[in-house]
Amino acid sequence: LDDNFLQCFSSNLLNYTKPISEVVLAKNTSAYSSVFQSSVRNLRFLNTSTEKPEFIITPFHESHIQAAIVCAKTYDMQIRIRSGGHDYEGLSYVSEEKFVLIDLAHLRSISVDIEKENAWVESGATLGELYYKIAEKSNVYGFPAGSCPTVGVGGHISGGGFGTIFRKYGLAADTVVDAKIVDVNGNILNRKSMGEDLFWAIRGGGGASFGVIFAWKVRLVQVPPKVTVFKVAETLEEGANMLFQKWQRIGHKLPEDLFIHAVTGVVNASSNNNKKTIQISFDSLYLGEAEKLVPMMEENFPELDLKRENCTEMSWIQSVLYFAGFSTSESPEVLLNRTAQLKSFFKAKSDYVKKPISETGLQGLYKKLLEAETSELILTPYGGKMSEIKDSETPFPHRRGNIYKIQYMVTWDEEEETKQHLRWIRSLYSYMAPYVSKSPRAAYFNYRDLDLGRNKNGNTSFAQASVWGLKYFKNNFKRLAKVKTETDPSNFFRNEQSIPVFYL
Ligand code: FDA
Repeated sequence: LDDNFLQCFSSNLLNYTKPISEVVLAKNTSAYSSVFQSSVRNLRFLNTSTEKPEFIITPFHESHIQAAIVCAKTYDMQIRIRSGGHDYEGLSYVSEEKFVLIDLAHLRSISVDIEKENAWVESGATLGELYYKIAEKSNVYGFPAGSCPTVGVGGHISGGGFGTIFRKYGLAADTVVDAKIVDVNGNILNRKSMGEDLFWAIRGGGGASFGVIFAWKVRLVQVPPKVTVFKVAETLEEGANMLFQKWQRIGHKLPEDLFIHAVTGVVNASSNNNKKTIQISFDSLYLGEAEKLVPMMEENFPELDLKRENCTEMSWIQSVLYFAGFSTSESPEVLLNRTAQLKSFFKAKSDYVKKPISETGLQGLYKKLLEAETSELILTPYGGKMSEIKDSETPFPHRRGNIYKIQYMVTWDEEEETKQHLRWIRSLYSYMAPYVSKSPRAAYFNYRDLDLGRNKNGNTSFAQASVWGLKYFKNNFKRLAKVKTETDPSNFFRNEQSIPVFYL
């Protein structure tokens, strides 16, 4: 197979600027392991029993992607497409079928055009690189996407992508104005040649079901020269529950320039160091100056008792550093570090909330969270621009009517602890059922969760896949399957949660 595949690859190549040995890495090459591990974020998928790709292709040019697709099809191998490697279930680099990994890390050029207020970004770029490149050219432009700088643009935008300014500007996927994709026949398509149906599908429906997206053209958004951040953290003993109750009612109704998310964690109770308690931290970004923010908070959320001295003004790019966990005095160049994140074992799940959770519900939730010391919930307020965009505008359907989203997360350090933590987070998810969205119980596609259901051997029917598909995409799932059936009828681009074709 090795020789045949390599032969096929070289005979399909249109671009010879790199020696093939740098583009195609076979299992016995020295770079193979380090490239495989380079962007893996979840240690659950690094163990030795995980199937490894037959080859890793590291394209320097789009023709390398074309050749990879043509030859993988010829030799009956699956492909996995990886940009930033942050997939929660490792679907960008793990497969039960024989496969080739296309790792887009080298395709990461970014060209920002401030005058036209847009940028072309290759999929292997990280969010940190994009933010940095924008800030290098202007301090009054930004981009509405996630907080973690090492997340890849490829997976993130194709699955939605939200961050601290999404209440004003919507999702990363909402800003896309053009894209370049290599389809199942190895053709390179842009918005015009792919047509509006496929262009719709890749802006939230996950790219991996449709082809290899190698670049996005996105609209930049305006940000003020000064933004303001604050953080108020209280434990249950200090009154966190009362604050959370209020936040549940008003977080989504606040002016769209103001984002306050709530993050829970298990900490030592100050009264007694052996006792654990829940702390809730209200972290905020306001697109404006503190002078306007303080009275706005006094009017909308006086219980937080925000004072001018709790607020810090900074540039938008400094707020990116702040939400990424860096000091704001650090140089924005830290955003270019592609390996800065700590790796751990983790499992996450998500829910959408449509009406405030009752007091009884919350008390039970705090009790559950105390069972796992490394548990964390991130509660993200919706409303603002998110309520103005129609559910069918892109495949991402969670718009009007949602007051906030919950991300449940648990992390651990030793493989032996995996079962216990998976059991715990699943029991938390069952506990939450009465308090969250129903029929379907909605979930965020970029917080991939295989517990919701999975395709078996790529032969799952539309009805079977609807079990998980309706949760991520609601009424848009059918249109996604229609686009899939038209663009990839042989179901070549498949994985455990790829969009099914209709006739299976
Ligand atoms: P990865 O490369 O693993 O790809 C994810 C999926 O997209 C896979 O199915 C893959 O095959 C497919 N894919 C990737 N590139 C493709 C391409 N070029 N063409 C076609 N298909 C492609 N989300 C969020 O909205 N806001 C946030 O703030 C965060 N924060 C965050 C922090 C951390 C630490 C993690 C681990 C994750 C997040 N996320 C997030 C979730 C994140 O948006 C999600 O995991 C993205 O899919 C990651 O994109 P990558 O390119 O990094 O992943």
